[in-house]
Amino acid sequence: MTETALATATYAPSEATRKHAHVDAATYDKMYAASINDPDGFWSEQAQRVDWIKPFTKVKDVNFDLGNVHIKWFEDGTLNVAANCVDRHLATRGDQTAIIWEPDDPKDAARHITYKELHGQVGKMANVLKAMGVKKGDRVVIYLPMIPEAAYAMLACARIGAIHSVVFAGFSPDALGARVTGCDARVVITADTAPRGGRATKLKDNVNQALRHDLNDVKCLVVRRTGDQIAWRDGLDFWYHEEADKVSSDCPPEEMNAEDPLFILYTSGSTGQPKGVVHTTGGYLVYAALTHQTTFDYHEGDVYWCGADVGWVTGHTYILYGPLANGATTLMFEGVPTYPDASRFWQVIDKHGVNQFYTAPTALRALMGQGDEFVTQTSRKSLRILGTVGEPINPEAWNWYYKVVGDSRCPIVDTWWQTETGGHMMTPLPGAHALKPGAAQKPFFGVKPVVLDPTSGQIIEGNGVEGVLAIADSWPGQMRTVWGDHDRFEKTYFSDYKGYYFSGDGCRRDEDGDYWITGRVDDVINVSGHRMGTAEVESALVAHAKVAEAAVVGYPHDIKGQGIYCYVTLMHGETPSEELRKELRNWVRSEIGPIASPDVIQWAPGLPKTRSGKIMRRILRKIAENDFGALGDTSTLADPSVVDDLIANRK
Ligand code: WT7
Repeated sequence: MTETALATATYAPSEATRKHAHVDAATYDKMYAASINDPDGFWSEQAQRVDWIKPFTKVKDVNFDLGNVHIKWFEDGTLNVAANCVDRHLATRGDQTAIIWEPDDPKDAARHITYKELHGQVGKMANVLKAMGVKKGDRVVIYLPMIPEAAYAMLACARIGAIHSVVFAGFSPDALGARVTGCDARVVITADTAPRGGRATKLKDNVNQALRHDLNDVKCLVVRRTGDQIAWRDGLDFWYHEEADKVSSDCPPEEMNAEDPLFILYTSGSTGQPKGVVHTTGGYLVYAALTHQTTFDYHEGDVYWCGADVGWVTGHTYILYGPLANGATTLMFEGVPTYPDASRFWQVIDKHGVNQFYTAPTALRALMGQGDEFVTQTSRKSLRILGTVGEPINPEAWNWYYKVVGDSRCPIVDTWWQTETGGHMMTPLPGAHALKPGAAQKPFFGVKPVVLDPTSGQIIEGNGVEGVLAIADSWPGQMRTVWGDHDRFEKTYFSDYKGYYFSGDGCRRDEDGDYWITGRVDDVINVSGHRMGTAEVESALVAHAKVAEAAVVGYPHDIKGQGIYCYVTLMHGETPSEELRKELRNWVRSEIGPIASPDVIQWAPGLPKTRSGKIMRRILRKIAENDFGALGDTSTLADPSVVDDLIANRK
């Protein structure tokens, strides 16, 4: 089939899928209508899926008007997230596995952590944190690999009311330091070194570097993962296993208000430094639990695997909080899809009998290129539902996932959401909707998407339309603020289109009323499902002594979805060379992390600027895309000849 033919095929739920599902088409319609017509009634009922210490009396208090944006759900209720994810399951599933841990090296033993053990581990970690002086409301940075202690640490914070900020273990010391400073954390939890794909990352060394200078009084709790040699800061560093021996595992959960912050997670925007997205306790948990159960059609006893990292929101909501709130068995994978070979995902699925599998299109595209045998040599019979997240999936990758991985038997849920939204916002539901490859399709319960005209900001009604995607009303999982900067929260999400939450994405609503995400409409690019502000890469580049100016744009990349294309103007007197190119690439990696590694660096003697000095990124994007015919109006440029030079020297 051609890409167009693939893209127009639809896949209705099989009889078996539909019958098994919590939600079929009629139920979806009924529940969606109820969630929109009577949000208070709908959410007050859904909120009963978590245990409240003190029940709420008020469901929702929301205002999206610039200058007075506030978002509150269940505001007078109290609860504890760790108690909901662990303690309340003890009576009925104490001996059931809560977490399956699959190590980087398949020759090492996997671990099965029961709810009972999890309870003890979380209590221990909570008491260790308390002994280190961490109190309710304090921030704790977690810089851990995918090991069970990452889950213990997050839940331990939740248990004592500390606010965790997980920093992806692939981020550089500088990026880590900025995040520790950003939320004023006094404790960082890390590991000695972290094996991934057979190679070890020196996490503790990175922490040491990050905590130099003004952060030199920040304490560090170190989990021993490999036993590798590490540099120690006497009086400030503590081995987790030693501290754990000194405390009991009994730690009563703190009573938290529904609107107390649960975590901060830094994410890139189109301008400036990454923002600390703040999620709170009650609404987030309700939304995480409901979406996890509904989207993945999770049933009691299922083994569920989300292949993300806990460093991203996907790991927060769909490795940890959603599944554990539902009493699920959730798989945590330390490794990478291609180690020891490209069969690893499918081997792990067989080994642990995984029923639901959730990953990013970029991983699928990379694996697809390795050939089908890596998949077909495994059984995958346990699989029932497949999911994707992070970026639009191209029909070819969708088709491969559906036919080769899922044997044309497992529905694919293509879930559109964001760090800011806390949980799924649009996705087909497996038992309800005829799948369209590449479409995010239907709004989740309580989500009111609107398509807006990008210039006028007016709502575009009807089907077969395209515009920018905004959300007209709040949902319980929505972020509440930017840590320490509510003004930035309002400006970023509520100022471009008055009265709406603006997603930053473009979208199309097709003739049937189904939604298709068309990608970011701001200066955010999506590299391998990871969000990157082009401004961040630019500031890393210009921080290099030999760089005078830099402009960064995204361009289509076969595997990564988007690649990072950098136009670099060198300081006067510097000469371009292959070595310098390598040096700059390594420089950006060390400033931000390997995920920000430039794919292309083009030397640019000049950048296209307007007479007022504004860089015309539209033109740079077109050149990077190799689309010279569509440069548009260049007459406002201060020096139109720079464009010819850039085209002539395109990489
Ligand atoms: C951006 C959010 C929350 C999941 C992980 C990424 C893009 C996300 C899809 C999808 C098309 C998608 C959007 C969004 N995106 N899911 N299913 N189809 N695009 O979270 O880092 O906050 O990035 O990822 O552009 O705005 P994030």
